[in-house]
This record gives sequence, structure tokens and C-alpha cells, in this order.
Amino acid sequence: MQIYEALKKDHEEVKQLLNQLLSLPDNDEKQHGPLIAKIRDALIPHSRAEEAVFYNSFRLIDASKKLGMHGYSEHLAAESLLRTLQVKGKIDADWKVTARELKAALEHHIAEEESEMFTAGRALFTNEEADAMGEAFEKMKPEIKEEGLMGTTIDMLKNMMPPRFIETFVSTARNIRF
Ligand SMILES: [Fe+2]
Ligand SMILES: [Fe+2]
Repeated sequence: MQIYEALKKDHEEVKQLLNQLLSLPDNDEKQHGPLIAKIRDALIPHSRAEEAVFYNSFRLIDASKKLGMHGYSEHLAAESLLRTLQVKGKIDADWKVTARELKAALEHHIAEEESEMFTAGRALFTNEEADAMGEAFEKMKPEIKEEGLMGTTIDMLKNMMPPRFIETFVSTARNIRF
């Protein structure tokens, strides 16, 4: 499967889960907690693998560097909303307000990815490269799903870093206590 289809399939799943979450009644008696966890499990592995496989392929090409980096800032913003949603969901605060913000942020992000990045990708990468990216993307996701917040945060920083710093960063980060 080419990377574009693999990404799109996940995008549809996340959008559907968010719609499901927002359609819950306000007194949903704890259905929202498991659904928020499901959104996390779909979104975080998707984003980390997408950065490592797709965004960083753009970063290797000088003229397309910005395209890859823009996505990172939107991932950070969406994940900060997701964390707020996870906490609000647990204490039953007004979690729907944050769920709506997350939905809007992700819909914007996904639309941009599927238009600008997919178009640029199709012009830059061969079909074989797109197939290889799709395969690598699917392979990475299950491992990321099992990681906690600390692990996925280190992974994001690692993905964003210039390759020459990665090794030192990872060995240092493992020894930091947060
Ligand atoms: Fe995506
Ligand atoms: Fe993304």
C-alpha cells in the first residue's frame, strides 16, 4: 500500500472516532473515557510514524524542508489538546469543548496533509518509494502504540532533530528523570 492510502485510512478512522466522541450525550456515563483512549491509540502511533517515514523524507529534500516542519507544529498543538482532553475526560470537566477544538485542529491538519503534502509527495517520490514508505509506516505503528507519554515525546523530538544529533540525544534522554 502506498503511503498516501495508508495515511488516508488512518485519517478517516481518527475523524470517525472524533465524530463518535462528539455525538455522545453529555451524561454519557463514562463512555467518553475509552473513546478518548482509542483516539490516542490511533493518533499517536500515526503521527510518530508519519513524521519518521513521510515528513522526514521531505526534509531530506532542501526545497521541501518547510513542508515537513510545518506538520510538526500541528502535531504538537493537536497532542497538547489531546492531553488536555485526557485529563478533562477523567475529571468530567467540560471535555466536549476540548474535543471540539481537537476535531477542528485535526480536520485542518488532515486537509492540509492530503492536499499540499500528498501533491508534493506524488511529484517528488516514485511509486516504489511511496510503497516502501507505506510498508515502513505500517510496521512502525504497533511499537509506538505500546509506548507511554515519555517514550512518544522522546520519539517526536528525535524525529525533529537533525540526524547527526539523534544518537547523542537518545542516549542522554534515556537517563533523564522527568
Ligand atoms: Fe496524518
Ligand atoms: Fe500529521
